Formats: sequence, C-alpha cells, structure tokens
Amino acid sequence: MPLEIEETAQPLGAEVKGLDPTVTLNEEDLRRLKEAFDRRGVLVFRDLDIDQGFQAQLSEQLIGVEPGRGGSGESEVRESYISNRKAGAAAPYGRLQFHSDTMWAKEPLQVLSLYGLDVGAPVAPTTFASTIFAWKALSDDLRSRVSDLKAVHSAGQHKQFEDDDLIAAVPERPKSTTTPIGLRHPRTDETMLYVCEQMTHEILNVSPEESQELLESLFGYLYNPENLFHHDWRNHDLVIWDNLAVQHARPNVAQDGPARTLRKFVSPLEGIAMEERAFNYSPVPAGGS
Ligand SMILES: [Fe+2]
Repeated sequence: MPLEIEETAQPLGAEVKGLDPTVTLNEEDLRRLKEAFDRRGVLVFRDLDIDQGFQAQLSEQLIGVEPGRGGSGESEVRESYISNRKAGAAAPYGRLQFHSDTMWAKEPLQVLSLYGLDVGAPVAPTTFASTIFAWKALSDDLRSRVSDLKAVHSAGQHKQFEDDDLIAAVPERPKSTTTPIGLRHPRTDETMLYVCEQMTHEILNVSPEESQELLESLFGYLYNPENLFHHDWRNHDLVIWDNLAVQHARPNVAQDGPARTLRKFVSPLEGIAMEERAFNYSPVPAGGS
C-alpha cells in the first residue's frame, strides 16, 4: 500500500500513514517523504512500534543521509530523553520558549525527532512555528527594513522573568553566532526568518530600542497562531522535524504531572559536541542556581 501523506490546514506539518517499519522504504516512498519534509517541515507518524535505530535512520534519511552511511549505527547514538520521569533526562519540567536547537552555532542541527515512549494524558503538546512561511508573510515594509540586518543568537535563554516557569539556563560563557535575519536554508535554499524568542538577543547596527521593536514585530509574524502547528502526544508517536525550517516550544510541564517521556534523536553526524547541544535543556530554572 502506498504511503498516505495528509497535510494539515496550517502551512506546516503533515501526517504520514501506512509506514511499515519492518519493510525497507522503497525509493519512491522515500522521495515523497523527503519532498513532504522539505515542504512541510514537520512529519508525524502515529502508532509506530520502533526502536531507537529506526528513529535515527529515518530521521537522517529525510535530510539525505543514506541508510547505513550515517551516524545512526547504534553504537554512535547516545540515548537521550525529554522526560519528567526518567532520571537524568533533559527538560524535566517547565516551559520552553520557541527556539531551534543549537541556533547559536555556526552550523546548527538540521533534523530532530521525538518518539512517545511513556505519554500520559493530558500532556503538554509540542508547538512548531514555520520560519519560512513567517518570512514570506512579512509586510513588504518590515521585510525591506530587516533584509540587510543581522541578529545575534546566544546559547541559553535571553530573557528571564521573575516567577516564570521557563527552564533554560544561561551558561556562564554562552556561545553565540551572528546571522542575517533572512537566512538561506542549507538544503532547500528557502529564506527563513532566523530569529527566535529564546536565543536572539539583539539586532545589530540599530539602536537598542529599534532592535527591540523590530524583534517584537518579527515575533508577531513567527508566532502568529496561523503559523503554528500543535502536536498532541500519544504513545508511539514519532515526530521528525527540520530544526531550521521550524522552531519548537512547549508550555509548562510539571514534574508531578502526567508522564511525558519522549526519546530524542540528534544526528551525531552533525559536528556539535553533545554537551554543547544540551545547553538549552539545563534542569536549572532560569534565574535559579
Ligand atoms: Fe529544543
């Protein structure tokens, strides 16, 4: 049976039905999955009984890594979890603002995936925002104001608020990078609106007031409800997303709330040390010690 790819009503996200993890993907199905991944940014597969090796291989295939040639060989993939139950897991509680993992790096990660291992109800969704559609949606005036400007992105969390439930800690010497605000996607060549609420500190060569005003205007497009896709987790859901074409966020997770254990895959092919990737998942509350 051919794969069915159902697009959401939003400009991002699609659900894939009919994938059989016990059968090798044929060329035509893989081509269709890659095309949907590049066009929609997020693919959801439900009711898949899969191990970490399958999750890793499919995630890498979507960015063009051939099976067996990537870093998804079991010995190289370190188990990693987002969980309010599992000891030592990342992001055990709290809210995460919109971000792309390792956005502060020169070559940030291209693909991420999560798999529902132990999901109670109701649990916090993961929400995605399209950086490509946000760029397209900008008013002509705003696009022309920012098209030659650059922004600084740093590891950790930019803003801290008292009594907030945000969890990303600020590293002592945060790594940072400077990029154009309208940045080309390395695989699709689409222009992305490359700023985020968690890590973008400032826009260069404008006053602090103008930087703030511009960022708020840009966030208004990025996080417009029409530019968002919410995924409500169930056990055995696999969600694979393009870490640059979409940003992700989640509302507050309570440590004593319903179980929320998701197995995470980050490609070891991409040259960023594991400990550095973990920056924005520190279990230390923002502002805490
Ligand atoms: Fe993240």
